[in-house]
Amino acid sequence: MQNKFPEKLEARLMKRNEEGSFRTLYQVHNLIDFSSNDYLGFSKSTSIANNVKAALKKEPPSNGSTGSRLLTGNFDYHTHLEKDLAVFFKSESAILYNSGYDANIGLFSCLGQKGDIILYDELCHASIRDGIRLSHAKAFSFRHNDLRALQKKFNQVKKDSTGSIYTVVESIYSMDGDAAPLLEMSKFCNENNMYFIVDEAHATGVVGNDGKGLVHQLDLSHNIFAAIYTFGKAFGSHGAVITGSNKLKSYLINFSRSFIYTTAMPLHQVLGIKFALQEIQGSTEIKKLINNIQYFRQQVAKRNLQQYFIESKSAIQSCILSDSQRVKTIAKQFVHHGYDVKPILSPTVPLGKERLRFCIHSYNTKDQIDEILELLTTFVGNFKRDNE
Ligand SMILES: Cc1ncc(COP(=O)(O)O)c(C=O)c1O
Repeated sequence: MQNKFPEKLEARLMKRNEEGSFRTLYQVHNLIDFSSNDYLGFSKSTSIANNVKAALKKEPPSNGSTGSRLLTGNFDYHTHLEKDLAVFFKSESAILYNSGYDANIGLFSCLGQKGDIILYDELCHASIRDGIRLSHAKAFSFRHNDLRALQKKFNQVKKDSTGSIYTVVESIYSMDGDAAPLLEMSKFCNENNMYFIVDEAHATGVVGNDGKGLVHQLDLSHNIFAAIYTFGKAFGSHGAVITGSNKLKSYLINFSRSFIYTTAMPLHQVLGIKFALQEIQGSTEIKKLINNIQYFRQQVAKRNLQQYFIESKSAIQSCILSDSQRVKTIAKQFVHHGYDVKPILSPTVPLGKERLRFCIHSYNTKDQIDEILELLTTFVGNFKRDNE
């Protein structure tokens, strides 16, 4: 193995270290979960696991799909799941991707043509931004969740467009947990002939009837060009689906590189999603999750901690502490007390917006919520005192 390492890359690593945001891989075991995306506990559901095992037993051995969907990797199990997902999310069509990252990369990179414009919320996920960067469209961000900022940006740049204009938002933002003003934004997009795209990663399985997401809850399907739903979060599995028209599906099959040039999802992954989809319909876990979110917010208010929290009704509750060291120290103190809460640092969030991100789950207890907020009150108080 070569020991040489390019100087410029070495310098980047050192800079990360100096900035206090150096990333390493570690494992979390036996801690109380206030950090995973497993909002409903489905990743550990015995009924889903048993259903998958039983279904696999009935099939001939199938460890992998053997190729791209366009070559040897297309099976009935993919097309059946896509049909079920289209029905569930009330869409004409649905197309599976191996992950949400792949879905966004594959969608945005092939949508944006020369002369097109993509407008995106400044807090959109890295996968959306990366996809946009790979496209041929000009792209402009607008202030987070601000309809006026979107309108202003549209009016500024529409003259530069010789093609289509797309607007992209997330229904629930992954780092702030707040919801986009979908109704107003979709109306504005429709009135101005724009194509509106919504990433529902953190609303899937959480928001609306049976966790069908915010688009469904607001009955906006007819106003949406494409929606992205991911299965690595509340579905406790892995993978994603893009919903939209039959024409959009055809276009993606023909031009979406992360769909075309990759081995298709294997049977066991498809079954994991299929049985999670079955489990979620009528599941009492969603109600438990909603109750826990409400309880968490009430307790934050009771302890006068709202000043630190971004207003959010979702499972993501972010406590802004604005200092990497402070955030990391407090996260470590939580671990010491048996709780897993993640420090979220720059560059994942803007400098000065470093935070602790509390992810609430259906399986968190009220006692755990009480204790974690009691600890937060103490830690934040200690930090204030030590630094005054
Ligand atoms: C808004 C959003 N979109 C897409 C993704 C990517 O999804 P996946 O983890 O399935 O690749 C994430 C994951 O964090 C996300 O938060």
